[in-house]
Amino acid sequence: MKILLTGGAGFIGSHTLIELDKAGHEAVVLDNLYNSSPLALKRAAEIIGKEVPFYQVDIRDREGLTKVFEAHQFDACIHFAGLKAVGESVEKPLEYYENNLNGTFVLLDVMRKHGCKNIIFSSSATVYGDPEIIPITEECPKGICTNPYGKTKSMLEDVLIDVQKADPEWNVVVLRYFNPIGAHPSGKLGDNPNGIPNNLMPYITQVAVGKRKELGVFGADYDTHDGTGVRDYIHVVDLGRAHVASLKAIEQKKGVAIYNIGTGTGYSVLDVVKAFVRVNGVDVPYVIKPRRSGDVAVNYCNPAKAKMELGWEAQYGIEDMCRDSWNWQKQNPNGFEE
Ligand code: NAD
Ligand code: UFG
Repeated sequence: MKILLTGGAGFIGSHTLIELDKAGHEAVVLDNLYNSSPLALKRAAEIIGKEVPFYQVDIRDREGLTKVFEAHQFDACIHFAGLKAVGESVEKPLEYYENNLNGTFVLLDVMRKHGCKNIIFSSSATVYGDPEIIPITEECPKGICTNPYGKTKSMLEDVLIDVQKADPEWNVVVLRYFNPIGAHPSGKLGDNPNGIPNNLMPYITQVAVGKRKELGVFGADYDTHDGTGVRDYIHVVDLGRAHVASLKAIEQKKGVAIYNIGTGTGYSVLDVVKAFVRVNGVDVPYVIKPRRSGDVAVNYCNPAKAKMELGWEAQYGIEDMCRDSWNWQKQNPNGFEE
């Protein structure tokens, strides 16, 4: 299939395009490079052994998008493009709502005008809020999102469902990612956050490489086996493969299909730190800090629906994720800066 990847130069998009290529699909990348580097696409091209068509276009730019759709007949769009920093979204709600919501509205309109009515949408476990059921199944009701970023994901899920209801020619696959970490095993591609990392794994790797003094562990008084927060970490290559598998739901014309994409196993912050130290033989000093506002104690999923309907399940475990994250960081201490 010929697939448009909005936000395809980003962390998850760049890994997904490699898995799409492996599976014999043709990927075209569109990204405004607000939070990514053209080097990610250069590295991805090295890995797959060919250039990937790339358009530096903002999804809010209707004219720019239209030109891309006029140049290609897409079978589906995988929609990664969006702003994703939880803390920043609290500071800049208007920018988040404008980019994520308006950008998606323009994209959907241009898609339908060009007869492309198949979309895979990057959603997030954040839509469950403080989950009512653990492990979380897709039947678990959505919860209250504590930040504008999470609200954009939840709202966009609803928008996509309404669009499909009004026009059954649409096929909408909503993937609720749990916590993507890891990197391409080659060490050429990985997570490249700007400034101080918000997320656990990039913070750990930056401590290990000597860029930061110590990890702050946000809360050791949760009701978990060691008091620290539990999450469902998923290797970004497995996540990329989940998008390839999701094309099946489009081929089968499922209408709307929602899947949790995680491993089904929860690890605490200290479990991850210990695994990282054990696998890589490096030190990660840490201090216990107060809880971070908005965090939940435990968040992991039941990924059985994705296995049953898409034949997808995670292949990599926490040790692979720790090894590949470190491999990427130590080969690229400054990310994509050359
Ligand atoms: P990322 O920031 O690395 O990638 C997103 C890409 O979208 C970036 O390259 C950015 O430049 C681009 N972009 C943003 N706004 C755009 C616009 N208006 N027009 C064109 N391009 C635009 O993030 P990621 O980690 O790869 O995440 C991909 C998607 O998955 C996002 O929608 C994110 O919200 C979602 N998600 C991520 C996580 C996570 O922990 N990484 C978890 C759940 C969901
Ligand atoms: N943590 C620390 N120290 C840090 C960073 C994180 O102790 O420096 C802890 C957090 O408190 C949490 C765990 O590590 O217990 C994971 O935190 P992350 O920030 O890595 O991930 P979150 O679970 O908070 O959120 C991530 C993405 C969201 C997405 C969500 C889906 O950032 O965009 O996963 O579950 F919505």
